[in-house]
Amino acid sequence: MEKIDLEVNNAKKVIQDGGIVLLPTETVYGIGANALNDDAVKKIFVAKGRAQDNPLILHISDMDMLDQIAENISEKEYKLMDAFWPGPFTIILNKKPGIAMTATCQGDTVGVRMPSNKIAHDLIKLSGVPIAAPSANISGKPSGTNLKDIIDELKDRVDYVIDGGETDIGIESTVVRVVGDEVKILRPGRITKEDIERVINHVEIDKNVMGEIALGEKVLSPGMKYRHYAPKTHCKLIYSKDAEKMKEKVLEESSKEASKDVVILAFKEDLDYYKNYKCLDIGSKNNLDEVSHNMFSILRKVDSCDAKLAIIEGTSTDGLGLAIMNRLIRACEHDYIEV
Ligand code: TXA
Ligand code: MG
Repeated sequence: MEKIDLEVNNAKKVIQDGGIVLLPTETVYGIGANALNDDAVKKIFVAKGRAQDNPLILHISDMDMLDQIAENISEKEYKLMDAFWPGPFTIILNKKPGIAMTATCQGDTVGVRMPSNKIAHDLIKLSGVPIAAPSANISGKPSGTNLKDIIDELKDRVDYVIDGGETDIGIESTVVRVVGDEVKILRPGRITKEDIERVINHVEIDKNVMGEIALGEKVLSPGMKYRHYAPKTHCKLIYSKDAEKMKEKVLEESSKEASKDVVILAFKEDLDYYKNYKCLDIGSKNNLDEVSHNMFSILRKVDSCDAKLAIIEGTSTDGLGLAIMNRLIRACEHDYIEV
């Protein structure tokens, strides 16, 4: 048996015995447990230090598993699943009553995703149960996209680890909910608004995707309320449609601090422009897949730069840019300047 198949087989036993497993998916690593075993799922909440009102996504390997956990699925919902599964796409559905109570935080709905990553798929299929899995990180920190970044913080908190190398996409799945005629994007991801519009005409981006949530405001997806992706270092996001203007503003803001106290997270093309500053390369502005692949790993590097301020170059919110800007604006706790 190949090493990876052996690992998946070991992980299956851990899942079936009520343990929790660090596993790769095509988006980010997850911490998985048998979604139907409340005691197992509770261990995930403890391992992450996750808020008790923030439900987990249930990962399935085939449509029979969907029928175990969701009901009254509409034609529109089937159309979306058909278009984007398996893949980085999560849909909030009506839950079968009494199922996966801890994973769904006692709610009436369930977030479901069928991952395309082979290791994740095989593990779910072999285990024979939906696997509840949030992103692999202590709550509030950037999600883990490779084991090197997360193994120290998580190895003693899980029962088994599968190494699947670097995840492909690098940011978490798109989360949507169908409300009436409309598809609402609750969390943007690799499946973009434009992708969804090719399947269903009316797509709306929830205002909390880029907006700041007021204290006590009711939100459609609890995860939106919490501090996210944030390094300890203060981060500031700067964007302009005009590339030159953006660079000038980044320099202007940088010059407010001593140069040794600043780190700039810049596109590859702009690194020369900031040559008097410490920089981290976020990838090419012409290749947002590369930027999304790198992003969480780079956010994790910020704190080791010994800076007081991290300034981050932004991008347009078209296409995959929306998912990138959604993560960055949270990393910056809404310290955002558009010029
Ligand atoms: O790509 C991903 O989605 C990764 C990998 C591991 O699959 N998982 C992930 O899980 O990002 P997590 O727990 O970090 O984020 C799940 C998001 C949270 O914002 C949560 O509030 C929302 O989905 N969510 C889950 N179930 C929900 C539900 N029933 N209703 C509304 N929002 C829900
Ligand atoms: Mg998460």
